[in-house]
Amino acid sequence: MRVVIAGGHGKIALRLARRLAGRGDTVLALIRNPEHAGDVRAAGAEPVVCDLERATAGEVAGRIAGADAVVFAAGAGPGSGAARKDTVDRAAAVLMADAAERAGVRPFVQISAMGVDTAPREDRGEAWAAYIRAKKEAEEDLRARDLDWLILRPGRLTDDPGTGRVTLAGPYVGHEAVTRDDVAAVTAALLHTPGVRHRVLELIGGDTPVEEAVATIGRE
Ligand SMILES: NC(=O)c1ccc[n+]([C@@H]2O[C@H](COP(=O)([O-])OP(=O)(O)OC[C@H]3O[C@@H](n4cnc5c(N)ncnc54)[C@H](OP(=O)(O)O)[C@@H]3O)[C@@H](O)[C@H]2O)c1
Repeated sequence: MRVVIAGGHGKIALRLARRLAGRGDTVLALIRNPEHAGDVRAAGAEPVVCDLERATAGEVAGRIAGADAVVFAAGAGPGSGAARKDTVDRAAAVLMADAAERAGVRPFVQISAMGVDTAPREDRGEAWAAYIRAKKEAEEDLRARDLDWLILRPGRLTDDPGTGRVTLAGPYVGHEAVTRDDVAAVTAALLHTPGVRHRVLELIGGDTPVEEAVATIGRE
């Protein structure tokens, strides 16, 4: 497979690139900072410098033409304010989906977040509210598109080593934690499970081996 990862220098993205490259896939990593190219190459991916807050859908479509799938794994990150939640978590996701449609790349996995179906807690502040709003709008945009979309909502992310065991199901599974390693493993398995599409899936650490959890989703 030829897989495009938007936000290619992210923590999940690099883990996913390593995993996909390890199984023989070609990975194109869209990054905004050229200095990240070395890390991306070390993960086995091909870096493509493309700032998703500046590029047009036409430009991105040109970069991803010929790919078999897109994974949106970008995000403004924890230190950012409301404005960048909107320009990255919402607008860059919409831009990628636009580009995928234009390029005819149908499979599209969006890394989203839990909690988007309820109003954000006021005590968590404006940036959090903007984040939840941005993720929700990005999901709504994707669900309306003629793409083979999948929305994956991980719980709280940790950098602990992956366990290879998860709980993966339609909403809602509870706000537990999951390792980025396991998110990458599930994403890779979903990409390689034909026919899984138009699903909103939530993911936390659990007891079911990743391949079994994804195969179960594939049979539903
Ligand atoms: N933290 C949590 O507990 C949690 C829970 C559920 C879901 N999520 C979501 O999971 C996703 C991935 O998480 P992660 O920890 O892997 O994120 P991450 O390490 O923060 O990676 C996000 C990547 O997006 C890139 N990016 C930002 N703006 C960009 C732009 N304009 N153009 C291209 N790339 C851009 C960043 O690049 P730079 O390095 O250049 O900034 C970074 O490499 C995010 O969408 C996050 O919101 C997080």
